[in-house]
Amino acid sequence: MTRVLGIETSCDETAAAVVEDGRRVLASVIATQADLHRKYGGVVPEVASRQHLENIVPTLREALAQAGVDLGGIDLVAATAGPGLVGTLLVGVSAAKAIAFALGVPLVGVNHLQGHIYANFLRPDPPEFPLVCLVVSGGHTDLVYMAGHGEMELLGRTRDDAAGEAFDKVARLLGLPYPGGPHLERLARDGDPGAVPMPRPWLEGSYDFSFSGLKTAVLYMVRDEPERHRREDIAAAFQAAVVEVLATKAVRAARERGVRTLLLAGGVAANQALRQAVEERAAPLGIRVLYPPPALCTDNAAMIAAAGYHVWRHGGRVDGLDLAVDPNLGI
Ligand code: KG4
Ligand code: ZN
Repeated sequence: MTRVLGIETSCDETAAAVVEDGRRVLASVIATQADLHRKYGGVVPEVASRQHLENIVPTLREALAQAGVDLGGIDLVAATAGPGLVGTLLVGVSAAKAIAFALGVPLVGVNHLQGHIYANFLRPDPPEFPLVCLVVSGGHTDLVYMAGHGEMELLGRTRDDAAGEAFDKVARLLGLPYPGGPHLERLARDGDPGAVPMPRPWLEGSYDFSFSGLKTAVLYMVRDEPERHRREDIAAAFQAAVVEVLATKAVRAARERGVRTLLLAGGVAANQALRQAVEERAAPLGIRVLYPPPALCTDNAAMIAAAGYHVWRHGGRVDGLDLAVDPNLGI
């Protein structure tokens, strides 16, 4: 049995978790800074770094207490090494190095995006390879083929705004608080997606995405003709456009690659409309769709511990105390 301490500080959540064998979550603690950044309408990197410094030790203590283990019971330390904000990543990676060095246990730097994917391996019925995964977060939109643990092939990605970023920007235009994704989803429930014209950015012949045009379409609507459409309808039309493009391309990739498992991962995977649209398209093709429970879709450290476990176990990789953070790390 391998007990992994996971640490996540890539953006505005300070998170620590204890996970056994990449499967069983003994504790997952998240100290969010969303309230702190809300008044700025987004994450302020320097403010975030300082807050992580304050939160990191209490968050680690709470995770260990909830798991009922002391530091001596930890066999491996995994921390997000990128992508993310350089200053915030350094807080988590420095803490991880100190703990790994003091305990004499291995240290593994984890790719945050792979962490999102590995949240699906914390399910009671973990996914089977080969698979396709749609990673949709605040910073990324990546369509990935995985032949096995750690064997990733990038099929497509966003050319401009990430899916979550588009949700947040449009939510802001509609006067919703940060982070706007969940608020926009709620508003959209009372709207009619057919009441407002909204383009579909298909980028034919490619698995890439582009959502900035939708944001601009909404900007012109609320700026030039504020009385013309209901906010609910704009929200519903925007969400329907994003969801249709994401779901169609993800299921097409799964079909063309001949996989039977399609994963959703990242904060936007918490979106019910997206889940439903993907399932509707995948079911007739016999493709199984999996996604993490909502609390493991958004940033957390349990997913980092799970990914770290598999990197170490199947990739045989261990990092030294010279492990560097990489704000621009790709999948
Ligand atoms: O994965 P995540 O927690 O952080 C990053 O790694 O970026 O994703 C956060 C993003 C935010 O943009 C947030 O608005 C979006 O996920 N999000 C949602 C929903 N819940 C979170 N977007 C749409 N619908 C949701 N229900
Ligand atoms: Zn994330």
